[in-house]
Amino acid sequence: KLKKPPSSLRMTCTLALAVFTATLGSLQYGYSLGVINAPQKVEEFSEAGQHPAVVMYWSLSVAIFAIGGMLSSFLVGFVGDLRGRVKGMLMVNVLAIAAGLLMGLCRLWKPHIMVISGRAVMGIYCGLTSGLVPMYIGEIAPKAYRGALGTLHQLAIVSGILISQVIGLDFVLGNDDMWPLLLGLSGAPAILQTFLLPLCPESPRYLYILLGKEEEARTSKQYTNFCSENSRGVCAFENHCSDHILRLCIPSQILSSKYRRQLLVALMMHLSQQLSGINAIFYYSTDIFTRAGVSQPAYATIGVGVINTVFTLVSVALVDKTGRRTLILAGLGGMCCCAIAMTVGLKLQNDYSWMSYVSMSAIFLFVSFFEIGPGPIPWFIVAELFSQGPRPAAIALAGCCNWTSNFIIGMTFQYIQVATVGQMFSANKP
Ligand code: GLC
Repeated sequence: KLKKPPSSLRMTCTLALAVFTATLGSLQYGYSLGVINAPQKVEEFSEAGQHPAVVMYWSLSVAIFAIGGMLSSFLVGFVGDLRGRVKGMLMVNVLAIAAGLLMGLCRLWKPHIMVISGRAVMGIYCGLTSGLVPMYIGEIAPKAYRGALGTLHQLAIVSGILISQVIGLDFVLGNDDMWPLLLGLSGAPAILQTFLLPLCPESPRYLYILLGKEEEARTSKQYTNFCSENSRGVCAFENHCSDHILRLCIPSQILSSKYRRQLLVALMMHLSQQLSGINAIFYYSTDIFTRAGVSQPAYATIGVGVINTVFTLVSVALVDKTGRRTLILAGLGGMCCCAIAMTVGLKLQNDYSWMSYVSMSAIFLFVSFFEIGPGPIPWFIVAELFSQGPRPAAIALAGCCNWTSNFIIGMTFQYIQVATVGQMFSANKP
């Protein structure tokens, strides 16, 4: 017999608390993505940067973050299923706090070794959290709001990027004295999340399908899924009974022909997200804006962060009404046109000075189109495309594909830039 359903206010508050708490992990991921730009210009790094070994240390601390993510994203399914989604997120916070301490206290020992180790551990944390958060939200969200709530993962990522850009300015923390604190703060959201997670309900699907705890699952579902109003909670579990068998799905089964189509869609979405080159803008925006003739590139970078956040909000509002497919197609199409405009702008800017406005507007529009669909949707659609059994394995594979292509873009962008735009510039010089 079902317990008395909680009031809708209580359900809404529980759901809001659960989503807010989970997305603190995404905030931390975004912060860690964006924060590494600022210390590049502080004295310890830039002076020492003359030395080839330090250039190597620096590139390593940028790259090792993605390598950590690539490796750990494979373990998302294992960590999520081991003790549940909530305890999984709680456990991995140890990594985030350790990474924050390593970077924040880096002056106590050899700073470069401490920073590289901290970035590696933070990458491992982010690889796990970038899969656990969408998995948890996808499993607790009521169907009607699943897209909007799933997009909040991306909203937290972009807010993290923006926060890191603002406090990375040299008059805030991006200076010679404060940069260890700037890096160390990457671990701060994990501390808050550690206090809040014990108040969050476990995923009802995990409780019911993996552990067979029907009563607990129903209680959790009542608190988050608004099922008491229409008793859909009960039906949903019954429809999912066949998943009982699938819970034995081992990661290799995800490659069977049964899941081929969904898997192809999931991987393509993550590949197109990363190979669009979006992170080249976040990693190298200051350089790109300088080349486009902008006099205050650091502020233009913050402008990108703001646009990024605003258009993710647009996506939150649209995604459940307009549909995933339309937003993805419109977003990718728009990005393609902007990339062409950007190339033309950069190519012709030496001939026509107003062309720098064309390239700059193209960068802003590129980011806007990214955020209405190709940014947020791949993260939560994998949880939607797969049923309970293969879901963790699918999220792990898609996450690994995302991190690997992110790493490839981070490493190759500068070479591609020299090979294309670089030549264009020199070709345009008298
Ligand atoms: C998405 C991407 C991430 C990127 C971010 C930018 O979350 O996965 O790599 O940095 O969007 O907004």
